[in-house]
Amino acid sequence: MSTDTAREHLGGGSARHLLAISDLHRDDIEDLLELTETFVEVGRRPIPKVPALRGRTVVSLFFEDSTRTRLSFETAAKRLSADTMSFAVSSSSVNKGESVRDTIETIEAMGIDAVVVRHRSSGVPAQIAGWTNASVVNAGDGWHQHPTQALLDAYTARTHLGSLEGRHVAIVGDIKHSRVARSNIEMFTALGAEVTLVAPPTLLPSSTNAWQVNVSNDLDAVLPTLDICYVLRMQQERMTEALVPSLREYTACFGLTSERADRLRAGALIMHPGPMNRGVEIAGEVADRPNAVIIEQVANGVAVRMAVLFMLLGSGRHLSAAPSPLDASSPGDSPTADGPAGDVDVSMEDAR
Ligand code: MLT
Repeated sequence: MSTDTAREHLGGGSARHLLAISDLHRDDIEDLLELTETFVEVGRRPIPKVPALRGRTVVSLFFEDSTRTRLSFETAAKRLSADTMSFAVSSSSVNKGESVRDTIETIEAMGIDAVVVRHRSSGVPAQIAGWTNASVVNAGDGWHQHPTQALLDAYTARTHLGSLEGRHVAIVGDIKHSRVARSNIEMFTALGAEVTLVAPPTLLPSSTNAWQVNVSNDLDAVLPTLDICYVLRMQQERMTEALVPSLREYTACFGLTSERADRLRAGALIMHPGPMNRGVEIAGEVADRPNAVIIEQVANGVAVRMAVLFMLLGSGRHLSAAPSPLDASSPGDSPTADGPAGDVDVSMEDAR
């Protein structure tokens, strides 16, 4: 990413897009988590709605299946009083061969302020950011990033554990195909936690050298040392070959079974981004234990996404100068209008 492009992202000073956790400075993360607290409070009100983004339009552009993330962003936008538009690829002109660029330009012509993008190819939200004057929020791109998931995970973990400084987090399972793992490695290490990746060698990326992490193939040895056991879904839709002998064998070695969950320390959290494969990576009974905060993660997702949308579209582009969203009765500044950056063709092929 060029310096100029980086400057357009959160953490770069103008906060125009949220594409990756690595775009955020530690201060930005802290500010977003603090703003999230405000919106959690809004969510507890009898009418959980504020006028902060009245007159703004937020579009969700999902080229890949999603339940919780799409609904969560749409709920967040509505609670901020933004107008929302939802694009589902199954009923769109993409099925008639329209390119991503033409799709985004068509939607932009209707007048939009932010576009929330999910795509099966890594890098598509960044490309879209070069084609539109709207703010772009990455809602998950290929194996690459899912930044709002990492923000909601950090927020949820901190409500239980306080500071994450020095805490031990294991991210367990299909690291190789996981954008959640990549975002959370960056998030948890930025917040001072020690991160251990636990997976069979076939479900790890070819190199982990770029990350400040430990790697283990022995979940049983790691479990008693953890503050957070973060379990990933087996992402079979992204696997092009058999990477484990069988799901039964995977569960036997890496599943968070009842016996394994019993070996976690008192107070250790069990987290999962959802959707879960109960009985594969996590036992159904374990997912329902009091120290499993999976439903809280979903609930906090709405407030985190309100914080992100408010920061990008409210007058809070400079985080420290952000006014209270609860007082905002008119929209803030318009996003900066920069021209399109290059004529890059985006196909549905993975950019990995
Ligand atoms: C994702 O979109 O990456 C999900 O939140 C996690 C998953 O699909 O396993």
